[in-house]
Amino acid sequence: MKEKETLKKEAAVKAADFIESGMVVGLGSGTTAKYAVIEIGNRIKSGELKNIVGIPTSNATKQLAEKNGIPLTDFGNVNEIDLTIDGADEIDKNLNLIKGGGGALLHEKIVAQASQKEIIIVDDSKLSERLCEKFVLPVEVVPFAVELEKNFLVKLGAKVSLRTRTSGKIFITDEKNFILDAKFKPLEKPEEIAELLEKRAGIIVHGLFIGLADMVISAGKNGIKILNSLEH
Ligand code: A5P
Repeated sequence: MKEKETLKKEAAVKAADFIESGMVVGLGSGTTAKYAVIEIGNRIKSGELKNIVGIPTSNATKQLAEKNGIPLTDFGNVNEIDLTIDGADEIDKNLNLIKGGGGALLHEKIVAQASQKEIIIVDDSKLSERLCEKFVLPVEVVPFAVELEKNFLVKLGAKVSLRTRTSGKIFITDEKNFILDAKFKPLEKPEEIAELLEKRAGIIVHGLFIGLADMVISAGKNGIKILNSLEH
C-alpha cells in the first residue's frame, strides 16, 4: 500500500498540470499543499511555467514559496486569482469542505473566494459522506469573545476546545486570533451551521467551505480520482 505522503504528492503534481503560464496562482497551506508549492517551483525553474505569480495563504506558505523561487504578489496588485491549489481536512459528497486543521482558514477562505477555480488536493482518507464524521470544525474567534463564542458553539451541540500548541501555549493565527475546535455530530446540512456562525461578530471565520471547491483531486492506492463540482 502506498504511503500517505506519496498520495499527497501525486494529487499535488496532478493539480499542477492545470496551471498555465501567466496565471495568478493561490498557494494553499498544509502538508498536502506544500507538495504543490514545491512542484510549481520546480516547473518555474525548468522553464515549463513562465510569468507565474503566487498569493500564499499563510506565513509558512509564503516562506516555502520564496524558498522555491515562486514570485509573489498580493491583493494590492491583483484583484482575482486564476487558480488556487489547496488541501482540506474533510470533504463531503457535495464537495463541501472542512478546512483549518493547520490554522490558516481565514486567508484560505479569502483566497478561495477570490479564485476563478479552486482545486482541492487530498489523499482519499479525507473523503466522507458528511462533514464532521472524521474531523472537528475549526472556528477562528477574536480573543475578546472566546468564551462567549465557545458557549454559543456548545449550545449548538458541539464539544469545544480551545486550540493549543504541543507546548501548551494557545495557538495564535496569522491574524492574531484564537481557534476553537468544535466537535459536531456529522452535519446533514452544513450550510445551516455556516449561516448561524456567520451571524456572530466574535467569529471571524469558520472552516466550512461551502460551494467553494470546483474540483477535488483525490489520490488513493488505486490511482487518482478527479471529482468536479456540478455547481460551478
Ligand atoms: C490549513 O489551515 C488547512 O486548511 C489545510 O489546508 C488542511 O488542514 C489540510 O492540511 P493537510 O494537507 O496537512 O492535511
